[in-house]
Amino acid sequence: MKLILDLDTGIDDALALAYALALPQVELIGVGGCFGNVTRDRSVQNNLDLLALFGAPEVPVCPGADHPWGADGYRPGDFKYRVHGENGIGNVLLPAAGGRACETPAARFLVEAARRWGGELAVVATGPLTDLADAIRLDRAAMASVGAISVMGGALTVPGNRTPFAEANICDDPAAAKYVFESGLPVTMVGLDVTLQTKIVGADLARWRQVESPAAAALVGMSEYYYTNESETGEIGGAIHDPLALEAALCPGAFSVLPINLTVETEGPGRGRTIGDPALLGRPEKTTRVCVGVGAAAFVAKFCGAIADWLGRD
Ligand code: RIB
Ligand code: CA
Repeated sequence: MKLILDLDTGIDDALALAYALALPQVELIGVGGCFGNVTRDRSVQNNLDLLALFGAPEVPVCPGADHPWGADGYRPGDFKYRVHGENGIGNVLLPAAGGRACETPAARFLVEAARRWGGELAVVATGPLTDLADAIRLDRAAMASVGAISVMGGALTVPGNRTPFAEANICDDPAAAKYVFESGLPVTMVGLDVTLQTKIVGADLARWRQVESPAAAALVGMSEYYYTNESETGEIGGAIHDPLALEAALCPGAFSVLPINLTVETEGPGRGRTIGDPALLGRPEKTTRVCVGVGAAAFVAKFCGAIADWLGRD
């Protein structure tokens, strides 16, 4: 499967990047870096540094959106720094990559790849949906031809993690998310309903710790920061939100899903809430598959095992 990841890198975004590289059936053809957990420029640089560290510096990194629709700037809030550290990757310091980001904006890259690869391409967005929305706005038909679109974001059956109603990625750009979910394109939503079922703790990293390499040390360092800081209540355990969105693109049959036509509230106390579109309740065709269940322990084991095997290779 050819894959584009659009990331707001972010520790669990970094884990999704590692997971993509670890899986032999995935050909990572490009990575977008957008605002979200960090600024757009930090996200791009994190992607460049991580790809160099992971031995894949040839994968193009495209600059994505640096602010939400309807805003003229963006600054990550304290919530982001608590969960992901000052630099987005748990304050782990990586050597600066020699390479540079490509000139093509992420949305344009998505459209060009969709035109070229159509159904062979999967797109996984794990930050605000701004780049995906921009791509659909640029060429809806091309984006409709993509084989799978999976997004980490939203909370349908559980409370939000940013507000009582809203999950962070959707909350960062509700207008773009609304545009994506109302576009009529088939989208798989991997939200808190399912991602909060898949958490890592220290014991899950045992095999990563046995590998002596800079990549292993960085992944262990980031993950330790993450599982210690993700919960607001001090509970230990980090939800591997973003790798699960990749899993949904790869193995859709592994999830129980609720088909629904979604919208997003863009104002008021429910700003950023993903909810069934009342205007489309009677429509038999449902365009979003909301993941609500997965074999959580099996996925955590698969994810940690795939990365351990990959780290252990020469
Ligand atoms: O709510 C979790 C999501 O917000 C994850 O994608 C995390 O990386 C942040 O972007
Ligand atoms: Ca993310």
